[in-house]
Amino acid sequence: MEQPVIIVENLVKKINDRFILNNISFNVERREIFGYLGPNGAGKTTTLRIILGLMRPTSGKALVLEGNLSKDINLRRKVGVILENDGLYNKLTAYENLDFYSRIYGVSNSSERDRRIKKLLDLVGLYDEKDKKVGYYSRGMRRRLAIARALIHDPEIVFMDEPTSGLDPEAKIIVRNLIFQLARERDVTIFLISHDLDEVERLCSRVAILVGGRIVALDTIRRLMHSLERRSIEITFKNMQDAMEVAKYLDNMGILYNLRGNSIRIFYQDSNISRVLKPLVMMGLKIIDIKGNVESLYDVYLKIVRGG
Ligand SMILES: Nc1ncnc2c1ncn2[C@@H]1O[C@H](COP(=O)(O)OP(=O)(O)OP(=O)(O)O)[C@@H](O)[C@H]1O
Ligand SMILES: [Mg+2]
Repeated sequence: MEQPVIIVENLVKKINDRFILNNISFNVERREIFGYLGPNGAGKTTTLRIILGLMRPTSGKALVLEGNLSKDINLRRKVGVILENDGLYNKLTAYENLDFYSRIYGVSNSSERDRRIKKLLDLVGLYDEKDKKVGYYSRGMRRRLAIARALIHDPEIVFMDEPTSGLDPEAKIIVRNLIFQLARERDVTIFLISHDLDEVERLCSRVAILVGGRIVALDTIRRLMHSLERRSIEITFKNMQDAMEVAKYLDNMGILYNLRGNSIRIFYQDSNISRVLKPLVMMGLKIIDIKGNVESLYDVYLKIVRGG
């Protein structure tokens, strides 16, 4: 089996006798979109800085493609980075910024550079603004350009620290689709720090949740939801007698419910809701409304963060 592309092992960062990171370990496999979540100050950016070789750990190690980004310069060409600080030059235009970075990354053929730059500008929706100085760009435009910059040298892994923060809803969708495409079509591995749980739920297969410098959850989103959730469904009947009859039936089945007038909210643990619903339909009761109420990553996150 292929080695994980990111390996973080027993990472500790202590500053002034305080543990900023307390024994962090996780792996990221190739082509994964891995979500790194946690409240403000949890240590997410610090972890990323250590992985990128911008900060030294107190102990433990962080390997990228089996190497060390602080020591191996060639390795840096395989990695794209979008940090909180976007690293763009205000006095240069968008085109010039991308040209500058593609030269740094050693894309030497000028027509190849031009082709890539234009393609990326188009991809992030900035083609028409390419000759404007970045100093005049709005926050969202800068964010998009930072994403283009991170992709200019065709990296194998892209690290993103809150890539969509400050973007308008439409731009968020563009960036999300882009992230998804990168992973699916171009085999790029993505390490994504985000506070947008809706985004994480849509994009990521696996997440780590960090609280106070410790990982308190590390699993696929599906399993995290499964381990914590209690799904519910609310059925409204035409009359109260029907609802009460169902309540009796649920009592016999040992299924938890909440009866309110002619509505009944049924809580169930397993995903096979049809086992619960089928007999209700067979009873021939007049149902006028059904609302599903599946919990989201947001609920799971809050439970984990508060509980941890
Ligand atoms: N160089 C430093 N000196 C002292 N404290 C630091 C340093 N770098 C980070 N910290 C502290 O480490 C903790 C974690 O910071 P970090 O930036 O990693 O959080 P984060 O999870 O990225 O939060 P956010 O969601 O707000 O971006 C914070 O309490 C921060 O003040
Ligand atoms: Mg941060």
